[in-house]
Amino acid sequence: LDNGVGRTPPMGWNSWNTFFCNINEQLIRQTADSIVSSGMRDLGYQYVVVDDCWMSPNRDANGNLQAEPSRFPSGMKALGDYLHARNLKFGIYQAPLDQTCAQYFDSYPGATGSLGHEVQDARQFAAWGVDYLKYDWCSPTGTINEQVATFAKMRDALAATGRPILYSINPNSIHEKTGPQRDWGDVANIWRTTEDITLAWDTGQTNGYPMGVKNIIDVTVPLARYAEPGGFNDPDMMEVGRGTLTDTEQRSHFAMWAVMAAPLIAGNDLRSMSAATQTILKNPRLIAINQDTLGRQGVQVAGDPSHRVLAKRLANGDVAVALFNSGNATRTISTTAAAIGKSGASSYSLVDAWTGATTTTGGTISASVPAHGTVVYRVSGGTTGDPQTPASGGLASAAS
Ligand code: GLA
Repeated sequence: LDNGVGRTPPMGWNSWNTFFCNINEQLIRQTADSIVSSGMRDLGYQYVVVDDCWMSPNRDANGNLQAEPSRFPSGMKALGDYLHARNLKFGIYQAPLDQTCAQYFDSYPGATGSLGHEVQDARQFAAWGVDYLKYDWCSPTGTINEQVATFAKMRDALAATGRPILYSINPNSIHEKTGPQRDWGDVANIWRTTEDITLAWDTGQTNGYPMGVKNIIDVTVPLARYAEPGGFNDPDMMEVGRGTLTDTEQRSHFAMWAVMAAPLIAGNDLRSMSAATQTILKNPRLIAINQDTLGRQGVQVAGDPSHRVLAKRLANGDVAVALFNSGNATRTISTTAAAIGKSGASSYSLVDAWTGATTTTGGTISASVPAHGTVVYRVSGGTTGDPQTPASGGLASAAS
């Protein structure tokens, strides 16, 4: 969407994965303070997104949305001011129908949606200083045309406020999944590609609730062609730092979100992060790959159901390569400089995104990758063309 924002994938934090409906202004302020003190803000984590369950069940006498006063006693304008004073940006959640998704997940009474109030609510968000709207389709039904019309209504209402507001849509919650059928780049800055993520590597499904990290990767990789500055696939908020997933799986999760040009929206409790979690979320080399101004999503150059090789062309001519092992045993995964679009040099340099170590190669790019692990190299040297995507969509068996 050409609205001046989201030229690279948004980075920030969202309340839902850890706190669900249990949110209030103290939590959001403490989280904002933690983003600053942990150094995350200065690495690019900018948006603090208040997800569902902030709103009062009742609109005011003029039909305006109101925050639930027992949770946000100072009001949303004051919260926006608090964030802006710390050089952070303010994100908020709403739904285009009668009610938000809280109606399904929690017996939260305040699930007031925006249906019929789009222009008024957009103005209200702008007046509160909102910089990011997550707009969530919370109905089990709806055709793709209905979704496009409904999401476009809020797109236009936001544009009419004159305030640059990053527009995040979710066509795929509580729904039979219209999302992947369409390039949503004319409607929104980011669009969810699947049902909700859960704290699991593999739930065994690609089209239902809930989705594991690997399952979301399986759905989102084939959508690479839709990514561009101003419009990115959104494989959901991250589960890094929430336990259950192994350290290797959490690193893979972050590395693949980075190479898929996904929004990097942390979903953990930032007030009590371990050093290991910070090492993942603050990896500067992966953040740079994710935030590259060319806005490309890594495309699959080889793979089979148990591994994938993605190549993400970068603005300075480098190419980021992800060697993703979704299988259950350590294996060597290999590709070549030619396959990722590199040519014309007798040697290329590889910087390992996790260790920072530099090696050189005459052409073979290879690593031993643990089960569920991902090795990422930033490859430089020679000249750069587009990666070679096999006619099979990259699903043919890889050189490995
Ligand atoms: C849906 C969305 C989630 C979250 C909840 C809130 O399930 O997909 O990300 O916003 O609604 O109710």
